[in-house]
Amino acid sequence: MKLFSITEIFRLWTSHINFSFFGLRIKAQEGSLFYSILYPFKQNSDKGKNNRLIIVENGIEKQIRINKKIKGLYVSFDGNNNTLIIDKSCRLVKSNFIFNCSNSTIKIEKKVNGKWQIAMYGNNCSAAIGENSFSADTSIFLVDNSIEVGKDCMFSNNVRIITDAHSVLDNNTKEVLNLPTKPIKIGNHVWLGERTTLTKNAQIPDDCIIGIASVITKSFNEGHCVIAGSPARVVKQNITWDWPHPTDYRNS
Ligand SMILES: CC(C)(COP(=O)(O)OP(=O)(O)OC[C@H]1O[C@@H](n2cnc3c(N)ncnc32)[C@H](O)[C@@H]1OP(=O)(O)O)[C@@H](O)C(=O)NCCC(=O)NCCS
Repeated sequence: MKLFSITEIFRLWTSHINFSFFGLRIKAQEGSLFYSILYPFKQNSDKGKNNRLIIVENGIEKQIRINKKIKGLYVSFDGNNNTLIIDKSCRLVKSNFIFNCSNSTIKIEKKVNGKWQIAMYGNNCSAAIGENSFSADTSIFLVDNSIEVGKDCMFSNNVRIITDAHSVLDNNTKEVLNLPTKPIKIGNHVWLGERTTLTKNAQIPDDCIIGIASVITKSFNEGHCVIAGSPARVVKQNITWDWPHPTDYRNS
């Protein structure tokens, strides 16, 4: 029997859709034409108890049926007492929120856009994405702990935020050495470059840029910095950033 790691299970889970058509089972792989056609029909699933899906409209929370489709989002609950709170103004694209856990919460604030994959495989986790934040393609995988993303962030393609699924032990005492010591925190107006990876305990202050393919493994304290490399370090200070292309920005 082939053993899959939790990361592989998450990848397989999000990267294809099983669809039954007149008794014929079709497996549509992400990126294929079939996947794009079938995605809007992917049904939310609830295999637990007391799971809640809450839509916020003009600040008022309203609980809706879990099988009610939210455009661009597939939600799966496999555990109890989990809550997804999402503002109606969000515009998600092929996003998947997977609760393989109990007593956990995902909160998506106003005008969050783009493609977000959030998978929780431990109890008592929380994920919050702040107002107006955008992701081209971000996967957040939590086994424990929590993540908080601030407002106005811009996450590029292939961003991975992932906590440890297995234990690192002291060889003599068997004491666990890799418990998280801090929640993952990303401040306001942070730009994560393509292929950025964040591990447990990663913290990024307001107005920072994370360079392409960087790996953030710890807490940074100074805002307005470019942080880059693997492991990442501060490479530039006193910066900020804006959406337009550099040439357009200079000419405007
Ligand atoms: C972070 C970034 C914006 C910085 O650009 P910049 O301000 O022009 O910075 P510089 O090129 O002057 O680099 C400053 C230093 O950081 C280093 N550096 C920059 N990006 C790095 C990276 N990803 N990893 C390691 N070091 C990096 C440079 O080598 C340079 O080092 P030095 O001072 O020793 O010479 C750019 O490097 C980057 O990664 N852009 C993201 C691109 C991307 O993901 N685009 C997708 C669309 S959102």
